[in-house]
Amino acid sequence: MSNSNTADQGFPPAVSNDFYMVENTLVIGLGMIGGSLAKALKENGFSRKVVAYDSSVEALKIGVKLGVIDSGCTDIGMAVRQASVIILAVPVKATASVLKMIKPHLQPECIISDVGSTKGSVIKAAEAVFGTVPANFVPAHPIAGSEKSGVEAANSQLFAKHKVIITPHAQASAKAALTIARMWQSTGAEVLQMQVEKHDEVLAATSHLPHLLAFSLVDSLAKESQSLDIFRYAAGGFRDFTRIAASDPTMWSDVCGANKSAILQQIDIFTQGLANLKQAIVDEDEQSIKGIFIRAREAREHFGKMLTGTAYAADSENKNVTFELQPGGCLSGEITVPGDKSISHRAIIMAALAEGISHLDGFLQSEDSMATVQAFRDMGVVIEGPHKGAVKIYGVGLHGLCPPPGMLYLGNSGTSMRLLSGLLAAQKFDSVISGDQSLNNRPMERVAAPLRAMGANIRTSANGSAPLYIKGGQKIQAIDYQMPMASAQVKSSILLAALYAEQSSSIQQPAATRDHTEVLMSALGLDLQVQGNKVTIIPGNQIAGFSLSIPGDISSAAFFIVGAVISKGSKICIRDVGVNPTRLGFIHILKLMGADIQLSNQRENNGEAIADINVCYSPLQGIDIGEEYVSIAIDEFPVLFIAASCASGKTQIAGLGELRHKESDRISVMVEGLREFGINIEEQQEGVVIQGGQIQGGKVDSRGDHRISMAFSIAALVSSAEISIGNCAQVATSFPEFVEQSARAGIRIRKEETNVSK
Ligand code: S3P
Repeated sequence: MSNSNTADQGFPPAVSNDFYMVENTLVIGLGMIGGSLAKALKENGFSRKVVAYDSSVEALKIGVKLGVIDSGCTDIGMAVRQASVIILAVPVKATASVLKMIKPHLQPECIISDVGSTKGSVIKAAEAVFGTVPANFVPAHPIAGSEKSGVEAANSQLFAKHKVIITPHAQASAKAALTIARMWQSTGAEVLQMQVEKHDEVLAATSHLPHLLAFSLVDSLAKESQSLDIFRYAAGGFRDFTRIAASDPTMWSDVCGANKSAILQQIDIFTQGLANLKQAIVDEDEQSIKGIFIRAREAREHFGKMLTGTAYAADSENKNVTFELQPGGCLSGEITVPGDKSISHRAIIMAALAEGISHLDGFLQSEDSMATVQAFRDMGVVIEGPHKGAVKIYGVGLHGLCPPPGMLYLGNSGTSMRLLSGLLAAQKFDSVISGDQSLNNRPMERVAAPLRAMGANIRTSANGSAPLYIKGGQKIQAIDYQMPMASAQVKSSILLAALYAEQSSSIQQPAATRDHTEVLMSALGLDLQVQGNKVTIIPGNQIAGFSLSIPGDISSAAFFIVGAVISKGSKICIRDVGVNPTRLGFIHILKLMGADIQLSNQRENNGEAIADINVCYSPLQGIDIGEEYVSIAIDEFPVLFIAASCASGKTQIAGLGELRHKESDRISVMVEGLREFGINIEEQQEGVVIQGGQIQGGKVDSRGDHRISMAFSIAALVSSAEISIGNCAQVATSFPEFVEQSARAGIRIRKEETNVSK
């Protein structure tokens, strides 16, 4: 496929005051497609008159009788002279001869278009006839069809909710392009604009190849000696796959000639894929066979998401999600929270690098963790699931990852991007990693710089952010690194790259950060030493397949913990939560403020501490929060700001600079929202001073930051009026069931979704 960066452009829908209506549309070729368009234009009033020309007088008569056209015309000269728009609905091969036929009669204002499924050949035909492509010629391709043919099959609804691609050339008249776009929109179609070459490449893969496969499969089976039996017993799968083999043979043989080189290229790609599958079957290589099937199944969904917006955050990008909350309530009962996000990412990464099969349960099935799963699938790792939190990963070993077919798309997930950049820096192949708008604005030099010092070749984009361009095949050297900021993601990125060095590497952190990478690597037998805030890794050991139970995410539990602490009458127990000490900063802080929080049923699994967390309502006292807790409470500050707003007196927090580099600038977004709630809050460059008070209701914007959406939701438990929170779709990145879970626990929350027109 071409690397053209031209984005496919959609046309905004017509609004009533710019509704185009033409006088006279002439459809040349009254088959199923031409008839369907004519009928649609007649029914929807786009054209005052719809006339057709066809070499078959019989077809014209049927067309009039069935109400498909107003009249048929056998004098092409007269029909063309009277036409305001002419649509060529003939096989693409006939384009040149039809253009030659109409040329002498064309009026200067007349707009010409077609419906052919190849566009390069149509442009060539126009050039051959006119010398250059006329400005009023706007090729189009409706991606809709039916295996039926003839005017009798005309269906005015054929194009509704289907795509139509128009391919106006550089000198095309804007008015002509808009008229053709509006004409297709009037049939209910969605109109996109593309370059001719790209159209032909895309269609060779998505339409022409599948048709040729269907024809070829039926033809091969029909030749077999037991063909009667094959067809007699053919069930749904065969019928589904071969439905399009009933399409018009002339049209499709024309397409083969008209789009020859792109089709041949797609046949080669397909033949290679089939040969790989055949070889895997010959070798009884179950893993490869399953790998192909799983990748194919997942790819349908993945690309579906990519097309609707951007993968993983697809829903987030296309839907405007608002949380509407009623004031008051309290939390009670027993709840669980979804699997830990940090551990879920690391478990997939380490399982992919292991030799052999790994099993996870409790895996977080959210947009962010699925971004990591998809990235490894793109690098050839077979991953089954997740199904109810269970995932099976067929590890490929430290050196078994394959080059991805294209850019690795990581949605909103900073952890995926930073951790993967360390791993990718050490691979033999080149890679490009990118994410959604929020992720592509976050600082990536913090990983790129130390990785470069290890010998990696990484280029960041403007302002040191993603997309990241990573050149493979570099020799990775050990590093002794003094980290300038406390970041578990940076530390983990370096640790992953260090697995590929020959010597040991050390990382000194300015403060403790979550240590899930170290805990998992040690549990898997890698050689790691930890002294205070310094980690040393000695590479060389292989990783074997493993089983891991992922505990509940304490950062998700944090919302309910704070919710219970601040709302009178609350008493909850959150079961099976990860209580790794490097994540407990916010519990220390809340306890210092007077919260009643108890851990029970404490145990350990693969080095990770797990417990049930029991929380009761407790009046809070404002305090000065020391910097020592910041790095181990880093994700909980939005909800801690809510706790501080409910405390009596003043809470002062310093050392929060890192909050400005999260999914949003969490200091300013929280300050803006809390002020709207009537809370007195002072914003400092690296901190805040919050004066406890009564949270009023109001309308706030979480700016697409999942943790801020959830923190503001918790505030409703104590607010004096309703709260409406905008931009909440990204909650799906870490806690897809937040609304349902919150409602069960006692929060009066409702989710409203509206589509965002793009
Ligand atoms: C994470 C580390 C933290 C945290 C993020 C997850 C991780 O980021 O904010 O949500 O899984 O390593 P930093 O390491 O950049 O502080």
